[in-house]
Amino acid sequence: MGAQKLIHNVNRLEGLLNIPGDKSISHRSVMFGAIANGTTTVSNFLKGEDCLSTIRCFRELGVEIEETDYTITIHGRGWDHLREPINLLNVGNSGTTIRLMLGLLAGRTFHSTFIGDDSIAKRPMRRVINPLREMGARIDGRSNGEYTPLSLRGGGLKSITYQMPVASAQVKSALLFAGLQAEGKTKIIESAKTRDHTERMIRHFGGDIYIDDLSIIVEGSQRLFGRHVDVPGDISSAAFFLVAGAVVPESHITLNRVGLNPTRKGIVEVLEKMGANINISSYNEESFEPVGDIIIQTSNLKGTVIEGELIPRLIDEIPIIALLATQAEGQTIIRDAEELKVKETNRIDTVVKELSKLGADIVATKDGMIINGPTKLHGSKVSSHGDHRIGMMLAIASLICEEPVELENAEAVAVSYPEFFSDLSQLIK
Ligand code: S3P
Repeated sequence: MGAQKLIHNVNRLEGLLNIPGDKSISHRSVMFGAIANGTTTVSNFLKGEDCLSTIRCFRELGVEIEETDYTITIHGRGWDHLREPINLLNVGNSGTTIRLMLGLLAGRTFHSTFIGDDSIAKRPMRRVINPLREMGARIDGRSNGEYTPLSLRGGGLKSITYQMPVASAQVKSALLFAGLQAEGKTKIIESAKTRDHTERMIRHFGGDIYIDDLSIIVEGSQRLFGRHVDVPGDISSAAFFLVAGAVVPESHITLNRVGLNPTRKGIVEVLEKMGANINISSYNEESFEPVGDIIIQTSNLKGTVIEGELIPRLIDEIPIIALLATQAEGQTIIRDAEELKVKETNRIDTVVKELSKLGADIVATKDGMIINGPTKLHGSKVSSHGDHRIGMMLAIASLICEEPVELENAEAVAVSYPEFFSDLSQLIK
């Protein structure tokens, strides 16, 4: 069993935080840096376990990557200098690493094998592998390629037109990496708009991409060039403190330089819709990703409905939104979120199970959950189930529980936010 933490309630939260770098953008900065020609420097890189897995995999492919505190330097030498790995590519807990790298390596003629942890072994991969096979990559693995270990031999890709059956930025990004290496133009049609960091980065690294609403076209045989990437703070990490600031009495928190990409900021829209006392200042969209400071204060909240196109724009924030809803007046309904079942854990089950232990009025539905509030939460023994976002949600819940909460497997937070507990303690007054 992992680390246990006893967390007590607090009187108020106050202060200012610099939120660590965005996980999705940090992964992509290594990937684009590796396939580009020339040096890429990345500042505010997220040194969470997931992004370190991406670095480890690219080192196995012969890419030179230097690390200093929060900056990394990638010495890219173009697609053709990636070399056949001698060792297994171990992605740890990271779905983004494996799914995006499958697309990236689908155009390389060498052999590679991916493995990961127990959670990765349960996550569906055919959503990426089916279209990559259609493009010509040879991929095999457990259950006809649905699960790890997965072996890949790529090369000779032809372009396709692909209507995506699920709204997934990981699938879209894998196909964009493959499309950049394929013969001709690859067209991807999304079922709903998902995070567009890969599209933005193709442009940032000097590539061409055409976007028309849900359709994306990328041409093959593109050369990319090393660039500087300044990673914004991760809005998915900021979300825990946004909710904490809204629900803990007499709180006032400022979060600096958070990424405010429209495809990611569903959490801000939900907080506004629920009546939260939230403000954005210093908004700036001069860089390839928009950023701003977010100020949150204790709020009177009301229930809401979260569904449809909003879901992909806040998919990773649903666990912490469920906690927020327990403190809102009335009912909150979350639907169209079946994708939660195939995240690091089945997040419909783990959220409902763990928040119920703390006294929340919450039930699971086939594609989401229904929460009635407000409820007073009480102490209990809870577990992250090894899922970083469940661990952080439960830690924030503990701040408003009447008795102390014993959180098992608290160390899981290091996947996306190694400094989470020290940042939280800075705010406790
Ligand atoms: C991510 C996409 C999302 C998200 C994950 C990161 C990305 O996954 O949940 O945490 O960086 O592209 P899906 O594409 O499976 O929805």
